Amino acid sequence: MKILAEILIPVVLLIPSLASGNNDLPQFAGNIKSFKQVEHGIEISTENSAFQILCYSPEVIRVRITRGDSETDFSYAVIQSPAGKFNSLKDTKDSLILFTDSLRVIVIKQPIRIKFQNLKGVTLSEDYSEINTSWLGTEVTCYKKLFADEKFIGLGEKNGPLNRRGNAYENWNTDIPSYSEKEDPLYQTVPFFIGIHDNVPYGIFLDNSYRTRFNFGASTDDQFSFFSAVRGEMNYYFFGATTVAAIIKDYTWLTGRMKLPPLWSLGYHQSRWGYYPESEFMSVARKFRDKKIPCDGLWLDINYMDAYKIFTWHPADFPQPKKMLDQLHQMGYHVTTIVDPGIKIEKGYFAYDEGVGNDYFVKYPNGRFYTGSVWPGRCHFPDFTKESVRKWWGSSFKYLIEPGIDGFWNDMNEPAAWGQNIPDILQFDFDGYKSTMAEAHNIYGLEMSRATFEGTKQLLNGRRPFVLTRAGFSGIQRYSAVWTGDNTATEKDILMGVRLVNSMGLSGIAFTGADIGGFMGSPSKELFIRWLSVGVYTPFFRNHTEIGSLDQEPWAFGEEFEGIAKTMIEFRYRLIPYIYSVFYEASLTGMPVARSLAINYTNDRRIYEWKYQNQYLFGPGILVAPLTSDQKFCKVYLPEGRWYRVSSGNSYEGPVEIIVDAPIWDLPVFVKESAIIPMQGIVQNTTENPSPILEIHIFNGSQKNSFTYYEDDGETYNYEQGDYHLRVISFDPVSRSIRLAKTEGSFKSKFSSVNLLLHDFGNITGIKVNGRDQTLNVKSEKEKMAEFPLKDEMIEIKY
Ligand code: GLC
Repeated sequence: MKILAEILIPVVLLIPSLASGNNDLPQFAGNIKSFKQVEHGIEISTENSAFQILCYSPEVIRVRITRGDSETDFSYAVIQSPAGKFNSLKDTKDSLILFTDSLRVIVIKQPIRIKFQNLKGVTLSEDYSEINTSWLGTEVTCYKKLFADEKFIGLGEKNGPLNRRGNAYENWNTDIPSYSEKEDPLYQTVPFFIGIHDNVPYGIFLDNSYRTRFNFGASTDDQFSFFSAVRGEMNYYFFGATTVAAIIKDYTWLTGRMKLPPLWSLGYHQSRWGYYPESEFMSVARKFRDKKIPCDGLWLDINYMDAYKIFTWHPADFPQPKKMLDQLHQMGYHVTTIVDPGIKIEKGYFAYDEGVGNDYFVKYPNGRFYTGSVWPGRCHFPDFTKESVRKWWGSSFKYLIEPGIDGFWNDMNEPAAWGQNIPDILQFDFDGYKSTMAEAHNIYGLEMSRATFEGTKQLLNGRRPFVLTRAGFSGIQRYSAVWTGDNTATEKDILMGVRLVNSMGLSGIAFTGADIGGFMGSPSKELFIRWLSVGVYTPFFRNHTEIGSLDQEPWAFGEEFEGIAKTMIEFRYRLIPYIYSVFYEASLTGMPVARSLAINYTNDRRIYEWKYQNQYLFGPGILVAPLTSDQKFCKVYLPEGRWYRVSSGNSYEGPVEIIVDAPIWDLPVFVKESAIIPMQGIVQNTTENPSPILEIHIFNGSQKNSFTYYEDDGETYNYEQGDYHLRVISFDPVSRSIRLAKTEGSFKSKFSSVNLLLHDFGNITGIKVNGRDQTLNVKSEKEKMAEFPLKDEMIEIKY
């Protein structure tokens, strides 16, 4: 039967070309007719299409399939050009085989099908043998064989389980308030996923911004998976590195990485739609300081504007923005304001006049400006795919930066207009290539964020801007942090937010968060506290809610809960040295801050189980088991190695499934054996100097480990000129030593001494610091401490 099928396949694939007359029938790529080698790969002609297979690096291969004439090669996501070359090409009777140092790309000739193998001969991914790349009208689809144990992770901000097998998704950025757990699509498009089977991962990124679909074996009888785009090219990148982390590193090499954000953006943020007038906003600011609840960021939503006109201030409610912002800066705050793309149609409003006068707005093909309604009423929309528009938009932030705004919140940029169906026919410049809303829709948020980031970076004269966006596309991490839009104050939303954050992390976006407490509706005090405790371990830590909901500040739930909230937020601030170092790593490698366990424990089947799929590592050493507030105890799965519960110090040998208490003030959080966690004393915000003592916590274990500790001024780009402070801290249980390597960089650390905290090191009573004996103070049964000066030279501790 199988043999018969194999003989029939080429015939079946040829049938559609016989069926001329009905363009709605599938058209297949067909057999290879000829090929030629080009600088970075090969170009192949088939009966109905043209293939380019290009080597970007030994692990990154691009496949570009077009029908007829190749379209202009243009991408808003990719920032690299092919940099590699295939080592050799073998032309056999049945196939062409291309080799890199890591991969073998086998192109079967009749009909054309591509197979990616590692050099051990393991097939990582291959086109499905019975249906291959084909078109239905303009829609192009690539079908891949589904492996028996194959799992799929990533795809950015998508609902559904960690393992996406058996599910299908669509990419079309959508304003979707109060979305449920099943809702798709949401606000962002990241057409990049990682497949895992036979204990090896691979990645695929479909670089096409039209409406795209991904089917991970939903309704295909476990035979195949596929991805498609309604128009444009089948243009994908294959990633063949051997670990999930290395694939994320390659994907963020291709599409770019986050630059180090300002330090203040890693603190706690308080937001609400409806902080106005100034007196109310200032009273929130004062309350945090009076109550000594740490806070770095205060946020102004649409009400700071005059009639929701972008780049304006409300004359009565915020009459003296500079004075107010000066005061807030003195109190240690940084302030972020919202901007939406819709420009109110109103003669005399400068942004409207400039936009019309300079042809900045999106138009219908007949030249009429598109009009849609959003908060300000009837609006026109900037065409961010035009360089002059991006420059204009970016420079308009002077109206916010001059009085003192520090952060820029890009909302409604799916783009959204009431009615939620902006016509596809609208025209876009596409940086000279010309296109329509059908192609521009999914990159609209990306290009708005780009314009915002580039413009504010210039205006801030060397200070780092902080940009937050709701919509985006692959590459958004270069410009902006992302939040998960309008969630709801429900238990389910806590865990849904965690999955979205973790999935974005797998997809190259490291700086993410969900509205703590829920945007729509009002949380109970328990729900709020539980959410806040998860927020402590979320890259972007912001409490935000809609207009009309009940108060949601940390003091809004009574004294007892205020105390709990304060302790939680304080703990976030104590972790800042660790968190900032983890952000530094993310900026270098793309490794996310919130790391789904699928990154480090890819081949451990249990982490994909429904009850454990939300667990993640926050940085390399802290495991978080997020929970709803109605669960007061829960099952946790701890992968291999020893784990310490943060609150009790109790240890567990993984892999193990345990049941733990989880009262509302104590989220189950564990530290991995051998972990190195730098911490500091409590501050009220990140502009305040912490106590000069850096705490370095080491949790005993059997594994060698190291952690790159990083500091800089947290504010400028001087670190790019070497003004940073970096040192590798390592722990070696075999030689019983802890080492703080000599520091690198010219920045002087905020800290002048160390408290070394040794957890679970048994009954040792003393250590040697650079050869000198030092007695340990006993902090608790399992925690011992030594204090010594923090010199820039190497410090070696023996125990
Ligand atoms: C959108 C945003 C939300 C914001 C509101 C008002 O719904 O997602 O965060 O508060 O608009 O601007």
